[in-house]
Amino acid sequence: MNTLRIFLLLITCCKLKSRNVICAKAGISIMLQIFGRFPVKLGMTHLFIFIIYSTNISAQNPGKFNLGSAPTPEEIAAWDKDVKPNGDGLPPGEGSVLKGLEIYNLKCIGCHGYEGQYGPYDQLVGRDSGKDFDFGIDRNLKRTVGNYWPYATTLFDYIQRAMPQLEPGSLNPDEVYSLVAYILNLNKVVPNDAVMNATTLPTVEMPAKKKFFMNE
Ligand code: HEC
Repeated sequence: MNTLRIFLLLITCCKLKSRNVICAKAGISIMLQIFGRFPVKLGMTHLFIFIIYSTNISAQNPGKFNLGSAPTPEEIAAWDKDVKPNGDGLPPGEGSVLKGLEIYNLKCIGCHGYEGQYGPYDQLVGRDSGKDFDFGIDRNLKRTVGNYWPYATTLFDYIQRAMPQLEPGSLNPDEVYSLVAYILNLNKVVPNDAVMNATTLPTVEMPAKKKFFMNE
């Protein structure tokens, strides 16, 4: 009976992929059986548990899935365009408030309403933040770009990446700069003749900037 058990264990171990681990475990098992250190009789149940256990190990370490392919530099560039608070990552290009108004009324107004104030989705414009930034206690206060966002550059990053919601990534940098200029202007953060580009946008100071700081 012992010989049969050892034989079965070896067959199992050699069929499985991660042979080193499995064979080491089989070896220990066999040794334990030979030296009689196992108090219980090792029969088919033990073998069954062993197979399940071994299969699990090989499922955790498949080595290679053979799925997908290495991304091309263009594919990486299409995703790798995050913009940091200091403006790192902003592309060349520029946009004006007036141009932004045109694009907004074509592509954004349906979801964010006239001048960014009436929805049905997120309100983008508004400066009221209560007496002391009361968003936590006053549910009627709406968080907007003008009263809540600490960095102007985030607006570029967000619009470029995520808007318009049904066609994310479809806007070119000039269009995004223009929309940023328009939304900042509606929020009374930049003047009517503002031109936004990689140099001017990071210098825009947001009203809520000082409300965000690191915990001591
Ligand atoms: C089909 C509807 C739709 C369209 C069109 C759309 N948006 Fe949005 N937008 C949303 C929704 C929904 C959210 C909230 C997403 C979330 O919180 O995950 C949002 C969020 C935003 C936010 C963040 C608001 C905040 O305070 O968190 C900005 C900024 C924004 N959109 C700008 C734009 C601009 C600019 C356009 C036009 C180019 C646009 N959106 C077009 C649906 C839309």
